[in-house]
Amino acid sequence: MTDKYMELVNTGATKKLAKLLGLPRPPRLRRYSEQGPLLPGPLLVLGNSARAQELSDTLVSWGLDVCRHDAGDAKLGGLLLLLDELVHPEELSPIMLAAGRALRQLLPGARVVSFSRPATADDEPAVAAVRQGIDGIMRSVGREMRGGATANGIVLENSTSILSPSALASLQFFFSGRSAYVDGQFLRVRNDQGVLAEDFTKPLTGKVAVVTGAARGIGAAIAKTLARDGAQVVVVDMPQAGDSLVKVANAIGATTLQLDVTAADAAQQIMDHAIGRHGSLDLVIHNAGITRDKLLANMDAGRWDSVIAVNIASQLRMNEAFLKAGLPNLRIVSLASTSGIAGNRGQSNYAASKGGVIGMVRSSAKLFETNGGSIAAVAPGFIETDMTSKIPLGTRTVARMVLPSLMQGGLPQDVAEAISFLGSDAAAGLNGQVLRVCGQSLVGA
Ligand code: NAI
Repeated sequence: MTDKYMELVNTGATKKLAKLLGLPRPPRLRRYSEQGPLLPGPLLVLGNSARAQELSDTLVSWGLDVCRHDAGDAKLGGLLLLLDELVHPEELSPIMLAAGRALRQLLPGARVVSFSRPATADDEPAVAAVRQGIDGIMRSVGREMRGGATANGIVLENSTSILSPSALASLQFFFSGRSAYVDGQFLRVRNDQGVLAEDFTKPLTGKVAVVTGAARGIGAAIAKTLARDGAQVVVVDMPQAGDSLVKVANAIGATTLQLDVTAADAAQQIMDHAIGRHGSLDLVIHNAGITRDKLLANMDAGRWDSVIAVNIASQLRMNEAFLKAGLPNLRIVSLASTSGIAGNRGQSNYAASKGGVIGMVRSSAKLFETNGGSIAAVAPGFIETDMTSKIPLGTRTVARMVLPSLMQGGLPQDVAEAISFLGSDAAAGLNGQVLRVCGQSLVGA
C-alpha cells in the first residue's frame, strides 16, 4: 500500500544515494510489538512533582531503566518531563536546557512525554503563562525530533495526580509503539476513574466490541487490533461488502452483522446481536464513513446529505438509543478527521460531519459517564488506505512530505492503536477526549 520510496531511501546503496542527494528520508516508525520493551532504552526523568518517587517506582515496576536528573552519556529510550508544579515561565530554563542536552542522546523511536496542568482563566497570570507555554514547547519539540522519535504531553486536569489510572495508561500509550504516529499531541486526564489493565498487552480482555465499516481500510485494522487486545469483536458493514466482511471476521474469530448504519433501528440491531450472541455490549467504534467531495459552489443535495447521514446523523441516533437502553460502562470511540479541525478544500460536507463528531463527543461525555461509560474520538490525518492510494503519486508524496515531524502518512494500524487505547477501561478518565493521529501534520496546526 505504501510506495517503495521509504524502502529505497532507507536501505543499501539507494540509502547512500538518497543521503548524497539530500532527499528527505522518512524514518521507520517504532510500532507495536507484543514482546518488545515499552521504550527502546533507559528513561531519563527531569523536573519534580509531589509523587515523583512513587512514579519512579511504578516505572521501574514496568521494567523500565529509570534515571533521575542525570543519565551521563547513556543513549536514551525516553525523556519524561515533570512540569506540573511550575508556577512561572522563569522556572522552565534549567529543566528545558537539560532536556535539550538529553535530546542529543535519544535513540531512534524514543519518546519525550511531559506532565503538566491546564492553563485556565482562573489561574494567576504567571501560572497560566507557564502552563500554556508548555503546550507550545511540546508541539515545537515534536517538530525537532528525528529517527521516528515523538513528543507528546499529558495534562492533569481537576487536581488529578500523576498516579491516576488514566495518567499512567496515557504514559504507557505514549511510551509504547502504539503511539507511533501520534506526535505533538496532548491527552487530558479529567478524573481519577479507570482501571489499569493487569496485562498491558491485553487491555480489552473479556470485552465485546462492535466496529462499523469494518470490511476494509481503517475499520478492518481496528477490528484486528481490538481482537489482538483481547476483545470479542462484531464486525458491521453494508450488505454489498459482505464477502470482505466475512474474510475480516474469519481472520479474527469475529461475528458479522450486515447493516447500513443509517437504518433507523441500527442501534437496536447492534445491541440484539452483541448481547444475544456474546452476552454484552461494552465498546462501539463508529468508523463507517464516506467522502463525497465537491467545492461548496458545486455541491448538490445528494453529496451533502449522504455524508451528513452516514458520518454524523447515524452516530447521534445510535448513541441516543444506547443511552436510552442504559447499558452499563459502555465506551464509544468515533472517527473524526483533521479535516473537521482545520478544514479541507472540497470537503465542507465532510468537515461538517467530522467537526460534528468532535462536538458530539465533547457534549456526550457527561451523558455516558452517568452509567460508568465514556466517549472519545480519534482524528486521523493522512492515512495510507485504498482511499488515499487513489490520489496521484505526486500529490500523495507531497501530502506525506508536508508533515515535517514524521515525513510520511500513517497506517490504518496507527489509528486502530489509539482507538483500542481510548476504548479501554484504563482510559475512562480521558472521557470526552479528541486525539489526533496525524504525525503532527501541518493541517490543523
Ligand atoms: P473506507 O472507505 O476504506 O472504508 C469505509 C467502510 O465503511 C467501508 O467498508 C464501507 O462499506 C463502510 N460504510 C460506508 N457507509 C456505510 C454505512 N452506511 N453503513 C455501514 N458501513 C458503511 O474508509 P477508511 O479510509 O478506512 O476510513 C474509515 C474512517 O476513518 C471513516 O470514518 C473516515 O472518514 C475516517 N478517516 C479516514 C482517513 C484516511 O486518511 N483514510 C482520514 C481521516 C478520517
